[in-house]
Order: sequence, then structure tokens, then C-alpha cells
Amino acid sequence: MIRVHSLSKNFNNLLAVDQVSFEVQRGEVLGFLGPNGAGKSTTMKMLTCFIPPSSGTAEICGFSILNNPLQVRSQIGYLPESAPSYDEMLVGEFLRFVAEIRGYSGRELNRRVSIVIEMTSLGDVKNQMIETLSKGFRQRTCLAQALIHDPPVLILDEPTDGLDPNQKHEVRSLIQNMSEERTILISTHILEEVDAVCTRAMIISEGRVVGYGTPDELLSQSLYRNSIIVSVNAEDHMQLMNDFNRLDFVYSVEHIPEKQQGLVTMRLYPENKNSIAPQLKHYLFSKNIPIEQFIVNRGRMDEVFRELTNEDRKTLRRQTGHFTDGKNLNLKDRQ
Ligand SMILES: Nc1ncnc2c1ncn2[C@@H]1O[C@H](COP(=O)(O)OP(=O)(O)OP(=O)(O)O)[C@@H](O)[C@H]1O
Ligand SMILES: [Mg+2]
Repeated sequence: MIRVHSLSKNFNNLLAVDQVSFEVQRGEVLGFLGPNGAGKSTTMKMLTCFIPPSSGTAEICGFSILNNPLQVRSQIGYLPESAPSYDEMLVGEFLRFVAEIRGYSGRELNRRVSIVIEMTSLGDVKNQMIETLSKGFRQRTCLAQALIHDPPVLILDEPTDGLDPNQKHEVRSLIQNMSEERTILISTHILEEVDAVCTRAMIISEGRVVGYGTPDELLSQSLYRNSIIVSVNAEDHMQLMNDFNRLDFVYSVEHIPEKQQGLVTMRLYPENKNSIAPQLKHYLFSKNIPIEQFIVNRGRMDEVFRELTNEDRKTLRRQTGHFTDGKNLNLKDRQ
């Protein structure tokens, strides 16, 4: 549904997008992640024919962004960054206007406008002027215009930006419900969103793709992968730490200071990021150690993001093989 071939964009001397290639199939939600200025919005603007690429090309539903821009636009619903709109129009009026531009009239136009107002919960503000809307309602109005022609491809630039937690949840559910029949590309800075709605994610930094995979594949790169937080009833953490350190499936142990007296909390990092929950549980039961908390971590997206998008951190990690955020790990003596 979306095929991108070596897409690049120069702004004078700045290479904002550098030979980006990827594909998105029907039913997929691809999350676009990257630091500010990485080139996410610029890539989306090229895919929606808003700006031309400097080199490379892309096809949307088989139509080339270079040769068939009108067909491309008819296949896409686009929510641009910062939800631009016509301030002096009423919400309902604006949506009717967009529906008209998309070629609808009469009953069908009314039906489409009602559906998107319902989908984006805009009923209460449909007679309000756009410039008087709060940020979240403005964002939803712009999302509604992107959905009006029921497009097979949605390109949403930070769709949950500025929404309150309830609305974030609603928009995520909306995206999930729509994804079965569609192809969705969303950019976001909210890393939990990747796990919540995306089937795949792409991390870009300085215009280049630096990470790509399912959320789980990306999480597997985390140094926290399969680490386990264990809290037990105990007074002294040193003995427990030494015991944990002696286990051959444990790579290192970190003591997490506890506020609660009589509770000791440790994070155990497994050898080779293996899944060690069964062995650890078996060990704790065999020693009759009373467990208060046992949490297995699949990995942390924020850490993977930082490692992939920050040159200094990448170099340090390559050199030391350890965390680069100043953590003091109690590493075992390696023979
Ligand atoms: N029209 C333009 N003229 C000159 N430079 C531009 C233009 N549009 C974008 N840029 C630059 O291109 C780079 C990529 O910008 P872009 O908006 O694509 O980043 P982004 O990944 O969307 O960032 P953010 O997370 O902040 O939205 C930035 O350095 C930006 O300043
Ligand atoms: Mg952007």
C-alpha cells in the first residue's frame, strides 16, 4: 500500500531526509519515531504530495507521488503536524467544505460528515468557530477531515499531540479499529503508543533510518530485556544480592533502594537477555523466599530510542557494553 524508495529531501544545505526506504502493507500501522528535526514530518509531506522529493520516489496504492499526485491524494487521509485549519469556519461547516472538495454532495455528504463527527466525538462543538476550539478539539477536527472520504491510507502526523489522556485513549482505539482495513503511518513522540497501536516501528535520526522492526523486535535490543524486578521480605540486601549473583543464569544484579522497611528490591539482568523467570521462580520457591513483587520487563523503548538516536551514547555503549545512563551495576566477576 505504501512503497518508499530512497526518498531524500534537501533544504538548501540541510539533508532533512536521507535515502529513506520502507514498505507498509494493508492492515499495518507503522509508527514513525525520531527526535525533533529527524525528518518525520518532511517524509510525510513528500508522501502526501505536499512537497516534492529532491530524489527518490514512493507509491501509494500503486500510484507514484511524482507522476500521479491527484490519485495519490485521493487515496490518503492526512492529518498534518499542528492540525492546520480554517480558523474562521465553524467545525461542521469546515467538514462539509472538505467533503465537498472530496467530491460528495447531498445525502452522501451529510452522511459522511455525521460519521466523522461521531467517530471523533465532535458533536458538542460542531457549531463552534475553529479558532475558539481548545487544542485537543482542533486536533480532532483536523483528524475528522482526514477520515471524511474513508481513505485506504492514513498518514497521521502526531495524531495524539495535545489530547488529554481520555482522548489519547479514544484516538488510539479509533486507529486500532480502523487499521484492519487500512494502512496507517503515524508519527509520535509517545513511546508507549508504539506498543499500544503499531504493528511495526521505524526510528529515524538525522534523516536516516536507524531502527526498524516490530515493537517486540525493537524491545529485544534493550539492555533491560527480560530483566526481572523482585521484591522480597528481608532486612539485609547484601546476602540476597550475593546469592542472586551466584546464579549462573543471572548476569548482574542491581539493588533498588526501597522506602518500605523490611522489603528488599533487586533488578536481575539475565545472561544473554534470556528469559529466566521460570528458573528464578524455581530458585525462590526452593529457598522459601517470600516474594512480594515479581515483574518481568520486556525491554524499554525509551532506552532503545536513546541508544539508536544519540551518537555519543552509541559509542560509549560499544566501548563498554554497559548502560550509558550512569547506572552502577554490580557486575559479576567474569573469569
Ligand atoms: N521548509 C523547510 N525549509 C528549511 N528547512 C526545513 C523545512 N522543513 C523542515 N526543515 C528542516 O528539516 C529538518 C526535519 O524537519 P521535520 O519537520 O521533518 O522533523 P520532524 O522529525 O518532524 O521533527 P518534530 O519531531 O519536531 O516534528 C529540520 O531540521 C527542519 O528544520
Ligand atoms: Mg514533525
